[in-house]
Amino acid sequence: MKRQFSLLTLATTALFVLGMVMISSCTKEGPAGKDGKDGADGADGMDGTASCITCHAPDGIELAAVQYELSKHSYGEEAFSLAGNAGCGACHLSEAFKYVCQNNTPATFSLNTSTNKYVNDYVVPANVAYGEINCGTCHSSIHSTYGPGDLALTTVAPVSMNMWGGQKTINLQADGGRSNLCVKCHQPRPLTASAADGNVLDYAGIAANPSAIFYDPDGTGNKMRPAYRSHVHYGSAGAIFAGVGGVEFAGTAYTNSAHTAIASCQDCHMSPMQGKAGGHTFFAKGNFNGCNADGCHSDASASSDFLWTTPRANVKAALDALAAALQINGLDILNRNPDAASNLWIANTTNKYDGYLNIYDPINNPDGPTYNTNGVFQNPAPANSWTQAQKDYNLTLPKITLTNAQMGAIINFQLVLRDYSQGIHNYKYSMALLQNSLAAVNGTKGV
Ligand code: HEC
Ligand code: HEC
Ligand code: HEC
Ligand code: HEC
Ligand code: HEC
Repeated sequence: MKRQFSLLTLATTALFVLGMVMISSCTKEGPAGKDGKDGADGADGMDGTASCITCHAPDGIELAAVQYELSKHSYGEEAFSLAGNAGCGACHLSEAFKYVCQNNTPATFSLNTSTNKYVNDYVVPANVAYGEINCGTCHSSIHSTYGPGDLALTTVAPVSMNMWGGQKTINLQADGGRSNLCVKCHQPRPLTASAADGNVLDYAGIAANPSAIFYDPDGTGNKMRPAYRSHVHYGSAGAIFAGVGGVEFAGTAYTNSAHTAIASCQDCHMSPMQGKAGGHTFFAKGNFNGCNADGCHSDASASSDFLWTTPRANVKAALDALAAALQINGLDILNRNPDAASNLWIANTTNKYDGYLNIYDPINNPDGPTYNTNGVFQNPAPANSWTQAQKDYNLTLPKITLTNAQMGAIINFQLVLRDYSQGIHNYKYSMALLQNSLAAVNGTKGV
């Protein structure tokens, strides 16, 4: 929060709003007229600053603003660097988010008949592609009536998911749907058939045919060339929490933990402050006040085996096992990254995977070769900007071939890793995705 709010400004504005303006008269006066009849008493007016004080109290917005400085919504740098970007804006830029809410911008993909490629409709016009996430992003009616109702959330509507081209919707019901506000931004992004028609990948088709070839560098009919950056983006928490968004291979049934139906994001992420988490910091890390409220749990803490240590260790072990299975001739398909500044999920697997692929890319991953103990795969689509030496080196690396089982497992690994919570959001769904992916990869080895 970069703006300072002063009580002086508030008082001045209040006086103005109440219209307490002195008017002095300078016209010449004639003789006084007869007194008129007394009028009826008017209704009592509102106390000067009463409506303002419902929000402008030390424990209201003043406190929220102090907490908000610890929120990545405030200190994160992406809103600044992505300003002007019509495709990234809906989730990173304040004016763009309000635009997609107000205009109900569809999450669909449409066929462009001149290029014969599908394009993503979830974009905003360039004139609203700016703005850091601020109070008015989530409370878009502030100061429209100066009443407490102005704090209403910008949206609680069900979220049409962009990763599915709008074919699936998340509607989290707890607490009046307030989680849908978070999910509108905290949803994965689409993986598209970029080497074919550009439409979203058909996850159901991948899950139904695990042994089919997804990508063959020497074959035809490839839908997508795997790249270092082939990923579902960062905001997978909303999809895992809701129990949608994975490549659902057959096996253990896909069910959800109790949280999906009865808890809202805010219950755990905006509970009373503890350390630097809670309230308008939006962090859950290290804060168990939410878990222990409302009669849900009573003894949750970082040392509870049943509620914390065991489920998180199980998810970590399942991620480790899947990563170990995702190898070709002893080479990791998944990228390791021991740099804590760039790998936000460094603690979530033993080998420090970051969800990217182990494919040579001197532009997007210049440090890759130094970090990777297992070597790298050949990049199927070298950029023109590479040096000749980089192009030559690339050709010495082994090519990568992927089955549907491997591609689906990569997607599921990314979703669960980047959900951060290691099963706290939705243990049952996370474990089913990881275990069924492992079975699919092992079951199709050698095809
Ligand atoms: C529904 C809650 C709410 C009510 C009621 C409310 N405000 Fe605000 N006001 C806010 C919020 C939220 C901010 C932004 C605070 C920030 O950026 O730190 C704000 C900011 C302000 C600012 C700073 C300028 C700005 O836009 O950042 C002034 C001045 C102000 N309010 C005056 C008033 C006055 C006067 C009233 C009563 C007539 C009033 N407010 C009633 C929520 C409210
Ligand atoms: C307007 C879109 C938007 C909304 C609405 C939104 N977020 Fe975010 N959130 C983001 C973005 C974008 C970031 C990353 C910002 C950056 O790095 O610049 C983020 C970051 C976070 C982080 C920090 C993640 C990390 O990497 O440590 C948490 C926690 C979080 N949001 C929780 C929530 C919760 C809970 C809600 C609902 C109350 C919510 N967010 C609503 C877009 C949104
Ligand atoms: C569907 C919403 C959505 C769209 C569209 C989107 N992002 Fe994000 N992005 C998020 C969320 C939410 C986060 C934070 C997630 C978290 O940390 O859990 C995030 C995080 C990031 C981060 C990591 C920031 C950090 O904390 O280190 C980068 C970089 C980023 N986005 C870049 C982009 C770019 C570039 C685009 C457009 C090509 C884009 N995003 C489009 C939702 C989105
Ligand atoms: C990422 C979304 C988001 C942002 C940004 C945000 N809020 Fe909120 N705020 C919420 C949610 C969610 C609630 C809980 C509302 C509910 O449950 O109906 C809330 C509640 C409040 C309340 C009611 C009391 C409380 O603390 O629960 C105040 C006051 C408030 N916000 C002020 C602010 C101010 C001031 C800012 C900017 C400094 C701000 N908010 C930024 C989402 C947000
Ligand atoms: C049952 C409690 C709970 C609920 C409900 C919940 N979360 Fe979380 N969330 C957590 C915990 C615990 C972590 C991991 C904190 C850590 O790293 O130790 C977490 C991590 C995150 C992170 C990564 C940043 C961080 O705090 O480490 C994001 C982003 C996030 N959750 C978003 C959401 C969204 C969006 C929702 C609603 C769809 C949601 N969460 C619902 C408990 C919860």
